[in-house]
Amino acid sequence: MDLRKENILIVDDDIDILELLQRHLQAMDYHTYKAVSVKEALFILKDTYIDLLITDIQMPEIDGLQLLKFTNEHYPEIPKLVVTGYPSVEDSLEVIKSGATDYLTKPFTKSELKKAIEKAFEQNATRKNRTVPSTHTNLYSDMVGESAAFKKVTNIIERVKDNKATIIITGESGTGKELVARAIHYSGKFSREPFIAVNCGAIPENLQEAELFGYIKGAFTGANENRNGFFQAAKGGTLFLDEIGTASLAVQTKLLRALQEKEITRVGSQKVEKVDIRIIAATNANLKDEIKNGTFREDLYYRLTVVEIKVPPLRERKSDIAILTEKFIRKYGIEFKDRLVRIAPEALQILERYNWPGNIRELENIVQRAVIMCDGIIKVKDLPDILKYQINFPENELRPLHEMEKEYIQRVLVHTEGNKTKAAQILQIDRKTLREKLK
Ligand SMILES: Nc1ncnc2c1ncn2[C@@H]1O[C@H](COP(=O)(O)OP(=O)(O)OP(=O)(O)O)[C@@H](O)[C@H]1O
Ligand SMILES: [Mg+2]
Repeated sequence: MDLRKENILIVDDDIDILELLQRHLQAMDYHTYKAVSVKEALFILKDTYIDLLITDIQMPEIDGLQLLKFTNEHYPEIPKLVVTGYPSVEDSLEVIKSGATDYLTKPFTKSELKKAIEKAFEQNATRKNRTVPSTHTNLYSDMVGESAAFKKVTNIIERVKDNKATIIITGESGTGKELVARAIHYSGKFSREPFIAVNCGAIPENLQEAELFGYIKGAFTGANENRNGFFQAAKGGTLFLDEIGTASLAVQTKLLRALQEKEITRVGSQKVEKVDIRIIAATNANLKDEIKNGTFREDLYYRLTVVEIKVPPLRERKSDIAILTEKFIRKYGIEFKDRLVRIAPEALQILERYNWPGNIRELENIVQRAVIMCDGIIKVKDLPDILKYQINFPENELRPLHEMEKEYIQRVLVHTEGNKTKAAQILQIDRKTLREKLK
């Protein structure tokens, strides 16, 4: 018996590719495990020692990026290689961020595959030897903040992380709801169990039930075998149900039962299965309105809101902007510039004054872009104009109307890229008046 054989897990929804990969890998003397979906891959990862993960990106249900994220969090030591059909720019960026060592574009030759695998193993060996810098000053690794509003959130996390109480996280888009859910899971005592994130809004309504609760062979046309759902995949850990407001009424009914009785049934089956998971739901919709419209069950609402975490918008925690900016500069500085980037005080001031309708996600995107554009130090010119000409409604000292008017006109002009005719149209004044005001 050859004990030096490495275990390679290959994940692709295309059976032909799976078999091709398997043939190549076996010829190279590796031992292979095949999975046609991320869900199956999760089951294999749980029970098997895997030395290398090779995955496709575009797959129905959960995509490969989610799998990469999951392995990073649970099995950071496993090297990863991506095999993809048509890499889009965004995907490639995500792949790089996900820590995959390389990606192969289909079709690839056997020798290309061999090289990529050897490289993945090599890089992993050097990574293991390197000491990890301990820059993590707080418990929730990725989440930073020092404002009072943010501390309220971390206080609740501390209280709920070690038990399985149902939690709902509310807040505007881009405020960090998913990050809060991950922080609860990974800082608590069930962190070794799976964390599965499901965006209910991304699953067509008629498939939601089967996707979440699984189904049995013959349950509907096309159900050729028994399949697990996300509930089974998250066993023992946390199931994060994002955009819960978009769950179908059938799912809501089953969810209520899962919360009340701790049991579920697969689609097409009568058999009751016990479930032991923590459910964290999130929404940026107003569920109370949905209850009024009859699209959300009131009883489910009360079951879900046992613990509610309201994530504050960035404009209510402006004191965190500097520390968040610093975090993102470090993150993207290392990724894109291979050195530490800094920010000029005037540029930071502009970031701190802006009102951030898109919250932390918007801040992160703007910092990322600025890091790419800048020459080692982020200056005012590296920031988008919209930030510079935002009208700042005075908070303390009140200001005369003509000053506010001037700021507003400037902002409209930035929007029209200096086109005065268009600006006059938006402002509903004639061009002559605009010209006079500009003097
Ligand atoms: N406290 C924080 N510290 C650092 N980064 C954060 C923090 N909160 C959020 N982020 C970052 O902001 C971005 C948006 O966060 P996330 O996806 O969790 O928001 P969300 O509330 O789920 O948004 P949506 O409603 O659009 O789904 C992510 O890139 C996340 O890493
Ligand atoms: Mg989200």
